[in-house]
Amino acid sequence: MKGRPFVILNMASTIDGRIALRGRRPLKLSSEEDFARVHRLRSECQAVLVGVETVIADDPKLTVKEEFVPGASNPLRVILDSRGRLPTDSAVLDGTADTLVVTSGDCSGTFEGAEVLRCGVGRVDLHRLLRLLEERGVEKLLVEGGGTVAWSFLGSGLVDLFQVYIAPSVLGDSQAPSLFAGALASSVEDLVPMRLQEVTVLGGGVLLTFLPDTSGGPLKDEG
Ligand SMILES: NC(=O)c1ccc[n+]([C@@H]2O[C@H](COP(=O)([O-])OP(=O)(O)OC[C@H]3O[C@@H](n4cnc5c(N)ncnc54)[C@H](OP(=O)(O)O)[C@@H]3O)[C@@H](O)[C@H]2O)c1
Repeated sequence: MKGRPFVILNMASTIDGRIALRGRRPLKLSSEEDFARVHRLRSECQAVLVGVETVIADDPKLTVKEEFVPGASNPLRVILDSRGRLPTDSAVLDGTADTLVVTSGDCSGTFEGAEVLRCGVGRVDLHRLLRLLEERGVEKLLVEGGGTVAWSFLGSGLVDLFQVYIAPSVLGDSQAPSLFAGALASSVEDLVPMRLQEVTVLGGGVLLTFLPDTSGGPLKDEG
């Protein structure tokens, strides 16, 4: 046991790695088959987590749809929201499942329809949050984005399994949000190596499953 939940990062992108339209406008990428897979995945996890920008942009419910998994119970919905910016009419506050809004320690915001957990200085402390979630019985956590949160988890070594559904389309906009919105990375040493575990053709697209590559040091520049 690692002292934290097993973390699955799941996202969907275009062939060119874009996850939304410019300006964070929503882009439907998952096929019906992939939606069904994501809902099954949610039903197998005790908590599902997104960043506040995803809630502002997409207003997701983050529940398990009855049509995909009959009789399933909903995971805890966890929103990373250091400054308490979550809109009060968000679907995650609708009471259909439990919701935990995680803010930094200096944020005094409260939300009707959600529990607030204050965790970290300035920004939510992911390591501490994961320890607290484990103490609450979360064994498997599903992280569903967006790109900033995805990079925070990956860059902190907190992703145990990464699944990305590649939709059969190209956006062709370098200003559109991409899978991982990190800080500037400028050399091959900055690459985060991953090991391909599985390739599945699904609903016209392809599902790639990666594990963290723990085989050694950074990639060498062969050029
Ligand atoms: N295709 C897909 O699979 C998929 C999935 C999800 C979202 N999306 C798209 O992604 C876009 C949103 O992504 P985004 O990158 O702009 O935002 P995001 O990752 O959804 O949320 C980022 C925000 O979370 C808050 N946060 C708090 N603690 C954090 C921490 N430790 N690490 C990282 N973030 C933390 C920060 O805001 P504060 O500083 O205010 O707390 C941060 O700006 C939308 O366009 C949405 O449609 C696509």
